[in-house]
Amino acid sequence: MRIILLGAPGVGKGTQAKFICNRFAIPQISTGDMLRESVRDGNSLGRKVKKVMDQGALVTDDIIIDLVKDRIKKNDCEKGYLFDGFPRTIPQAEALAQENIQIDSVIEIKVEDDQIIARLAGRRVHEGSGRIYHITNNPPKRENLDDVTGEPLIQRDDDKEDTIKQRLEVYCNQTEPLVNFYQKKHKEGVLSYRSIDGNKMYEKLSAEILNYLENL
Ligand code: AP5
Repeated sequence: MRIILLGAPGVGKGTQAKFICNRFAIPQISTGDMLRESVRDGNSLGRKVKKVMDQGALVTDDIIIDLVKDRIKKNDCEKGYLFDGFPRTIPQAEALAQENIQIDSVIEIKVEDDQIIARLAGRRVHEGSGRIYHITNNPPKRENLDDVTGEPLIQRDDDKEDTIKQRLEVYCNQTEPLVNFYQKKHKEGVLSYRSIDGNKMYEKLSAEILNYLENL
């Protein structure tokens, strides 16, 4: 199963990706997580992309496409994978098609902007594992500590209100055109496309997504 999770920053792609990947035993390929790992490592890619990410802009298509092409060559991708935060531009989507990568399903999650701002402002993350919490919606058992390792949680550098607004604008201008792009593919019978209202609690949302995927 090859799945794309599409949606604005903070709609819950990373959160839902964990449920889906567990259910179908496929890896989560989050370009955002991969880039943040490079920033933490301080390698040449990380040094190149840090400023762009902190500003809430998009990393260039050629960097992202190379990153993804390398990642999907790994053995764990043989039975499929879930793209979280990729593709994010029409050229990225076209690069997938040029590689003859057949996507089974695109799931778009939709949430209002004011909800998104509240979600991202309260998000806390365990850097090592990518586990995602929210200070009120999904708090850790002990304040600001990861449930599994007990290590401190962090707030992402791009989760400041001004940067969130910038990321939402970038989504609207550069990523939202993918909605039409993939809806057209759905009409042509190339893949299945489903738009889902993300304004519901975690488990209800994941039950709806899993039910849809299991009945494809
Ligand atoms: P990336 O890491 O992909 O960030 P994003 O798309 O902005 O998405 P987020 O991770 O912010 O949100 P999410 O939808 O995963 O929400 P989450 O589940 O965490 O990208 C970061 C940057 O990297 C980009 O700005 C860009 O610079 C670069 N980049 C990455 N990919 C790129 C690409 N392909 N091309 C170019 N540049 C790229 O949930 C958010 C919060 O809400 C959490 O606190 C969670 O607990 C809470 N929450 C989740 N679900 C619910 C619910 N149902 N009810 C209530 N609260 C909820």
